[in-house]
Amino acid sequence: MTTPAPTLRLIQISDLHLVEEGRLLRDVMDTPNRMRDVLDRVLTLGPAAIILSGDLGQRNHYVHDDLAAYIGHFQEQLGVPFIAIGGNHDPIDAVGQAFNLAKIASGPELGDTVHDVQGLRIIGLDSHGVGSNYGHLTQQQRDWLAQMIAEPAKYGTLLVVHHPPIPSTTTAQRGSGLRDADKLYEVIKDSDVRAILSGHYHYQVAGTLGHIPVWVSAAASYNFDLFAPGDILRGMADGWATIVDVYPQTVTFSSLLLTHRDEVFAKTVG
Ligand SMILES: [Fe+2]
Ligand SMILES: [Fe+2]
Repeated sequence: MTTPAPTLRLIQISDLHLVEEGRLLRDVMDTPNRMRDVLDRVLTLGPAAIILSGDLGQRNHYVHDDLAAYIGHFQEQLGVPFIAIGGNHDPIDAVGQAFNLAKIASGPELGDTVHDVQGLRIIGLDSHGVGSNYGHLTQQQRDWLAQMIAEPAKYGTLLVVHHPPIPSTTTAQRGSGLRDADKLYEVIKDSDVRAILSGHYHYQVAGTLGHIPVWVSAAASYNFDLFAPGDILRGMADGWATIVDVYPQTVTFSSLLLTHRDEVFAKTVG
């Protein structure tokens, strides 16, 4: 069996939780530095687009203008489109006109965005959630989404929504995903939507919404220790991104560890 190359390779980076330059997240983590390191490294993988799936900034840290300028530079210099949506830590409308410069359509919310990446349609949805412990879509957004996907795209559609439409693994985060996920499924169940990409939970988890795969990328900033007791969220310093490979027949999600690990061996293959 020959293994085909992916049609498209995307990189998903979630939950950067940026703070202002020179400051530290929770007094310990230099998230701006983590972001620069992540972007430098993922570009070596040749992505067709980079998806930022919410919680770009840490709550009460106003970093969005600087971030838009920074990724704008990457976009211009390297021609790699960035697709960004907000999360519950991002102020309302913080992901505004300065983001999603390559979009082909907008939706009812400022952060709703549609992109065509070489025939693959990527739709970002603002799931709100600022000041609340769950996310939701409005009926207006669902109606708009139905219009956007009424005709299939060449390579199908990926949805990006910060709050996952599947349950959390941790008991402490129960109920903090996307409310009324069944209403979203009603809209997309007969469409060309091939997968849903989320973040928010700060660990990897995969599931399905009806028959549609859901991938939750671990965070680029900190991630929760799933061994912690049920009422404790223990943030760990490991950071992750996801390689999303889009093939004609399938979409795969590979976790990409961004922080230190030891090599056991290396050998040349082929
Ligand atoms: Fe987050
Ligand atoms: Fe979040």
